[in-house]
Amino acid sequence: MEKGWLDQLSEKQTARKPLCNLELFKKVFFKSAVEFYALMELHFEVDATNKNFLGHFCKYWNGDPKFEVLDNISLRKGLLVFGSYGTGKTSSFKIIQNMSKQYRIPELWFPIIGAQEVVAKYNAVRNKDEVIDYYSKGTFLFDDLGTETVGNNVYQYGKEEIFVRILLNRYRNFESLGTKTHVTTNLSFAQIENRYGTQISDRFIRMFNQLKLDGPSRRK
Ligand SMILES: Nc1ncnc2c1ncn2[C@@H]1O[C@H](COP(=O)(O)OP(=O)(O)OP(=O)(O)O)[C@@H](O)[C@H]1O
Ligand SMILES: [Mg+2]
Repeated sequence: MEKGWLDQLSEKQTARKPLCNLELFKKVFFKSAVEFYALMELHFEVDATNKNFLGHFCKYWNGDPKFEVLDNISLRKGLLVFGSYGTGKTSSFKIIQNMSKQYRIPELWFPIIGAQEVVAKYNAVRNKDEVIDYYSKGTFLFDDLGTETVGNNVYQYGKEEIFVRILLNRYRNFESLGTKTHVTTNLSFAQIENRYGTQISDRFIRMFNQLKLDGPSRRK
């Protein structure tokens, strides 16, 4: 076998180039954000409470390996965006999703599903395992994790924390396949631990870059 082939192969797998120059990415993000908020007749606000977050958020989605060391962010991991109500967590992801569609950038694509919607689907179908399997694979943003009710499985276990199963599966897929999970939540780390257990919260540290977006609500 040719010398160094393994190195070359692993280099190929890890060497991801940024999508573009960071300043350009930020400009396009800004433009998309202005358009996004204009649809609701709102102005895109950037101020002391979200400026830092938006900077990290753009760096992550632009995928520049240089920033991993600087910001303790790993591009292999997904994003866990946490903070109080109405700070723009969900909107920020929707803007990235819009950019993916508008400029046809598959690297920026992910489906968004509300945590409660997952539970509603689980409750509605007979084959519960299919729902768990479906949300265990591929990239997803689980919006508002922590607001969902416990699942109802009358056929088997009774009440069940659906996301414990989904997130444990996803952690396994993250380790073996690099599957990315993104989450928005109002829960603090302690609250996540409290609700889903330490098995989950331990894995959270390994599978997520945690970004805080706090401050007063911008909901009008
Ligand atoms: N930077 C911003 N500029 C202008 N309006 C904003 C900004 N961020 C958020 N908003 C507005 O505030 C409202 C709440 O935003 P969003 O739903 O993204 O918040 P959230 O953090 O996901 O809230 P929650 O924790 O309740 O889910 C929306 O109507 C959105 O349009
Ligand atoms: Mg939200």
